[in-house]
Amino acid sequence: MTMRRARQITSSRLLPVLAAGLLCGVTAADELTTGKDSPLEVPAWLFPLNPPAPATAAAPAADAGRALRLPGATATFREAELNNLFFAPDWRPDSHLPMPAIVARGRAPQVFACGYCHSPTGQGRPENASLAGLTADYIVRQVADYRSGARRSAWHGPYSPTDKMAQVSQHVTDEELAAAAAYFAQQRLTSRAIVVERATVPQMKVVGFVWVAEPDGGEEPIAGRLLETAPDPVRHERRDDTMRYLAYAPPGSLQRGEAIARSGGEVTLACTSCHGEGLRGAGPVPPLAGRSPTYLLRQLVAFRNGARAGPGGQPMRPVVASLAIDQMVAVAAYAASLPP
Ligand code: HEC
Ligand code: HEC
Repeated sequence: MTMRRARQITSSRLLPVLAAGLLCGVTAADELTTGKDSPLEVPAWLFPLNPPAPATAAAPAADAGRALRLPGATATFREAELNNLFFAPDWRPDSHLPMPAIVARGRAPQVFACGYCHSPTGQGRPENASLAGLTADYIVRQVADYRSGARRSAWHGPYSPTDKMAQVSQHVTDEELAAAAAYFAQQRLTSRAIVVERATVPQMKVVGFVWVAEPDGGEEPIAGRLLETAPDPVRHERRDDTMRYLAYAPPGSLQRGEAIARSGGEVTLACTSCHGEGLRGAGPVPPLAGRSPTYLLRQLVAFRNGARAGPGGQPMRPVVASLAIDQMVAVAAYAASLPP
């Protein structure tokens, strides 16, 4: 990146910080002096990792070339297409505007198709992020933060989805990014997860970076976790962006989360004061309602631990400084349960 470009990004990103600060009666200077609490331990359940691939590669299945389908979709794809990161499987072409090339195909060898991970309609999946309903300006600024390294995964080790996002940010051109941002900003978000409170949850395994209930595994205590599961692992693996995930949260989470969101719950600032009524977003401050609770919780942890430290995120530092993980779980579950 050239010096000139670096300066432009910095100054254009200060405006939203100031705007958000003014909106909520906090100044940028206040924010920079707070947030000094000790780092949170990142819970391992928040980053379900795929089991290691078998040492000897499995022979291709005899039916690897067969046409795969989804309920209610006329398109068909083969296994190899669903594993190609330069191809966004478009099951329902009528559900969105024509995709820009960078969204549909990316640009080999470095820029994977945005729509492969974030889906053609921008609904995203629990292991990445929804982009539908964000503003184009916010999308551009976030990719700039990945590019500069100011935004990283909250997870301490390798995490392929975010590592690939970082790779994309390094190589996407400003023109390609502008086209993708304008496109996703026009898509509408649908509620990503059904949130249910449960004292016990099924035993889980991991499929494609998300939890899946073991059919005959029995139950175990939820123990403070927020577990977002794919109710149908086949639809998850085929990248069906009309499937809603099923998120388990500890009993009482939604009520506690609502109190924090609306009033700060005596521990922090009210989320609605910046994220707007119903957490549907306000100007430069992104929407939270109806988004994946896994994604939201990862971001809260990332702000708290400094893994997400871009200039636009400074207003979030005092917000998370005093939040414990169970309070973050509660407010993420509540936000996810709201209509987008
Ligand atoms: C290999 C998968 C993958 C591809 C391809 C990909 N992303 Fe991402 N993206 C992710 C993941 C994972 C995250 C969330 C990372 C985190 O937790 O911070 C993310 C997050 C984002 C965010 C942040 C959203 C928010 O609400 O702050 C934006 C914006 C974004 N991606 C844009 C893009 C664009 C534009 C492209 C195409 C040029 C793209 N991504 C391609 C995986 C991907
Ligand atoms: C003082 C204003 C302010 C308050 C109060 C606030 N936020 Fe934020 N929040 C922001 C801004 C600004 C951003 C965008 C950060 C960026 O540009 O990187 C943000 C981003 C986020 C994100 C990341 C969204 C994304 O698309 O990646 C989450 C999650 C979040 N806030 C949750 C909360 C929760 C939960 C609360 C209440 C406990 C809260 N925020 C209170 C200003 C605020």
